[in-house]
Amino acid sequence: MSAATDTSGYKTVRFSETTITELMIPSYSNFGGKIHGGVLLSLMDKVAYVCAAKHAGNYCVTASIDTVDFLQPVEVGDLVSLMASVNYVGNTSLVVGIKVISENIKTNTVKHTNTSYFSMVAKDDDNTAVQVPGLILENGLQVRRFVEAKRRKEIKQAYKQQVNKIEVPASFEECENILTGEKVLLINN
Ligand SMILES: CC(C)(COP(=O)(O)OP(=O)(O)OC[C@H]1O[C@@H](n2cnc3c(N)ncnc32)[C@H](O)[C@@H]1OP(=O)(O)O)[C@@H](O)C(=O)NCCC(=O)NCCS
Repeated sequence: MSAATDTSGYKTVRFSETTITELMIPSYSNFGGKIHGGVLLSLMDKVAYVCAAKHAGNYCVTASIDTVDFLQPVEVGDLVSLMASVNYVGNTSLVVGIKVISENIKTNTVKHTNTSYFSMVAKDDDNTAVQVPGLILENGLQVRRFVEAKRRKEIKQAYKQQVNKIEVPASFEECENILTGEKVLLINN
């Protein structure tokens, strides 16, 4: 943390806060008549890009997404708003938090459909990762979001290490034991 008096090389969260609102038209729907998850993901990627690129002052790429759980379906005719803000900055990466809400225009009911966190990396014209400006935190909510993002990053690193340790038994018999109780049929050809 730096003294709050020298803000050169730092930007506020407000500077890059971004909202995209889009009407859910029939061509966005799936066979069940609800909006495709992929349409929402695409919009989330767009709003994350705008927010990240504004903060970075550079082109940014999506490195990873921390969980997308679709909590409620989005209907054709709904007005979807995606609100993005920078939650965390590293050296060349930053985390954009995105809240997605869906509004029924006729009834004015609003649903929270999901909240996700996009890790973005800033790149220069030669596709080399570049430093991002620091973040000026102006209130308790912004501090809390920064700390949460830092914790998520640590937990994700620990999780990755665990996943890398996953071993599948070499013997077929041991694999068969693990399959016991699973909804599979083993057919030997
Ligand atoms: C993401 C990408 C830039 C990482 O490149 P890399 O050489 O492995 O990067 P480094 O290990 O040097 O890390 C650079 C930064 O990215 C972060 N990073 C790398 N992989 C990450 C991941 N999977 N999730 C979150 N952050 C990640 C690092 O923590 C580091 O952050 P810091 O500088 O703030 O400490 C690179 O893999 C890439 O360009 N991927 C393609 C991105 C793309 O095309 N996205 C669109 C989807 S189709």
